[in-house]
Amino acid sequence: MQIIKSPKMMQRICQGLKREGKIIGFVPTMGYLHEGHLSLIRIAKRRSDVLVVSIFVNPTQFGPKEDFARYPRDFKRDRFLLEREDCDFVFVPRVKDMYPSGYLTYVNVDKITGKLEGAIRPGHFKGVTTVVAKLFNIVQPDVAVFGQKDAQQAVVLKKMVDDLNYGVKMIVAPTVREKDGLAQSSRNMYLSEEERKQAKVLYQSLQEAKKLIKMGEKSSNKIISRMRDVIKKQPLAEVDYIAITDAQTLEFLNKLKGEVLISLAVRFGKARLIDNIKLKVD
Ligand code: PAF
Repeated sequence: MQIIKSPKMMQRICQGLKREGKIIGFVPTMGYLHEGHLSLIRIAKRRSDVLVVSIFVNPTQFGPKEDFARYPRDFKRDRFLLEREDCDFVFVPRVKDMYPSGYLTYVNVDKITGKLEGAIRPGHFKGVTTVVAKLFNIVQPDVAVFGQKDAQQAVVLKKMVDDLNYGVKMIVAPTVREKDGLAQSSRNMYLSEEERKQAKVLYQSLQEAKKLIKMGEKSSNKIISRMRDVIKKQPLAEVDYIAITDAQTLEFLNKLKGEVLISLAVRFGKARLIDNIKLKVD
């Protein structure tokens, strides 16, 4: 496994691989890897000749009051895990090489970035699309794998890939969960012992929504209100939002129909957790 820091060097290597006709599989990450990342990495590995994983805590996707500085980092451990997955290249650029002084260019997907996470974290998706566009230009992947846990991110990035004619096959892989249903996330490490116990409520509220829908409930208000009741039982939980939207356009739905995304963000002290399920409703 080779560790590459320079964007120019990474790009040169990938250009060479493309000339040799190799299929490049790519998983962009911010490091502090967990089973969720490893599941994406295994999918990319199966679908490619050469696997590239990037580790870059991208400053442009964090708001001024967000957790960029304290976002967990552990490169030694990440390197060990990636070696075990038989990763070919780890791309670990420095901030000053990705955004040199005088940097001015950003990629922005309109409309769908202003809802849900985007409404609460203004500018977040502009940072995500900018860094992923840059990473795609450097790595030139044939296949890129993202997680369903960041459902809106996956929709936004698919739109960017279509609109900007990136010839990248986008795969969105299922969320990996702990035994009690909590979605795996690097941010789970912010949870205290008691918060961690209560954090399973995100999944429980989604399961409650699923149960209601199976019983024929189609009213978003009723489903959301039941989800709030479930979450209220955990005193440390503070709901940021619960939303029921079309899974592709992310338009809010009053009545459930078609492919539906139920997503939520809940705060526990310093940790802000997100989760979602996608369902087909007749
Ligand atoms: O999902 C993430 O970890 C990040 O948003 C990504 C896609 C690596 C871009 O920084």
